Amino acid sequence: MQKRITAFRRLGQHHLEQLSEHFHVDYFPELDSADDPAFREALREAHGLIGASLRITPELLDDAPNLEAIASISVGVDNYPVDELTRRDILLCNTPDVLTETTADTGFSLIMASARRVVELADFVKRGDWTESVGPAQFGSDVHGKTLGMVGFGRIGAAVARRGALGFGMKVLYSNASPKPDLERELGAQRREFDELLAEADFVCVTVPLTAETTHLFGAEQFARMKSSAIFVNIARGQVVDEPALIDALETGEIRAAGLDVFAKEPLPADSPLPRMANVVALPHIGSATVETRDAMAQRAVDNILRALSGERPISLVNDEAWTSRQG
Ligand code: DGY
Repeated sequence: MQKRITAFRRLGQHHLEQLSEHFHVDYFPELDSADDPAFREALREAHGLIGASLRITPELLDDAPNLEAIASISVGVDNYPVDELTRRDILLCNTPDVLTETTADTGFSLIMASARRVVELADFVKRGDWTESVGPAQFGSDVHGKTLGMVGFGRIGAAVARRGALGFGMKVLYSNASPKPDLERELGAQRREFDELLAEADFVCVTVPLTAETTHLFGAEQFARMKSSAIFVNIARGQVVDEPALIDALETGEIRAAGLDVFAKEPLPADSPLPRMANVVALPHIGSATVETRDAMAQRAVDNILRALSGERPISLVNDEAWTSRQG
C-alpha cells in the first residue's frame, strides 16, 4: 500500500513532484487553520505530515492514528508537542543549518537598521522632510567597535557574532547554557552571566529557542539592567519577551531602540504600538525568508520525510528517542 502524506504551505511544485513519486500527497497550500475539515480528513489517513507555521496539538494527533513522521519546514519546533510526539513514536524533523546564514543576515540587518535609523530616516526622505543637511536629531550610533551581547550562542547566534566580530570589529559577549571554547578562540568571544551581559552590551541580540525556561526571559527587570543607549534585537521568538515591558522600556528611554523580527502574536495585531514607534524596526518574521533559503528548507523537509517514511534515519531529527523506539 502506498503511504500518504499531508502537506501544507511552503512547498514548490518540484518538491510536490518528488513526494508524489513515492507517496500519495494531499496538499493544502492555503491552509489557514488546523480545523479545516478536508485537512483533518487527509490527516486521518496520513503517514507523514510536512509544512510550516501550524500549531500541532495532542488533540490533532489523536485524529492522526497512522502518523509516523512530521517534517517541519523550520528550525524552531515550538509549534510541536515534542514529548507527546516522542511518546507516540512519531518522528519530528526540522531544518537546521540551511537557514543559519540567512537568519544571521536578518539579525545583522536589524542591528544596522536600528543603530543607523535606516527605516525611520528613509521614511523622512520619502515624506519630503529632507530640506537641509541632517543634524544631531537624525544621528544614529556606531555599530563597529561596539559590544555585541549574544543571548543564545547556537548556530545562528554564532553566525551573527561572526559578522560582528570579523566584519565590524565588535567585542562579542555571550550567555549560553554551555561554554563555547571554539567560538571563544575563533571570535575572541567572552562568556558572561546573563545579567552581566545585559549591563555591558551595546547590542543585545536574542537567538535562544523558545522553551519553558526562555519564555519571558526578558521583562522589566532585564530591560532595566541594560544601558539606556542599548539596542535590543530579537530574531528568536516573540514569547521570549514580555512585550508590554519592552514597549515600556522603549517609551521611557530605558533602552534606546529595538529591531524585532518576531512578536508575541504574529501577524502583529493592528493595535500594537510597536510598528508605529520611531525607535523600533519591525519586520514580519522574515528571518529565513529568502528565495534560496526557503527552497533549501523545503528541500530538507522533503528529504527528511522521504527518509523517515522509508525507514531511513532523517537528516535532521529532533526526537532521537522516537527513532530508537521505532527501530526496536
Ligand atoms: C524557523 O525556522 O524556526 C524560523 O523562525 C522560520 O519560521
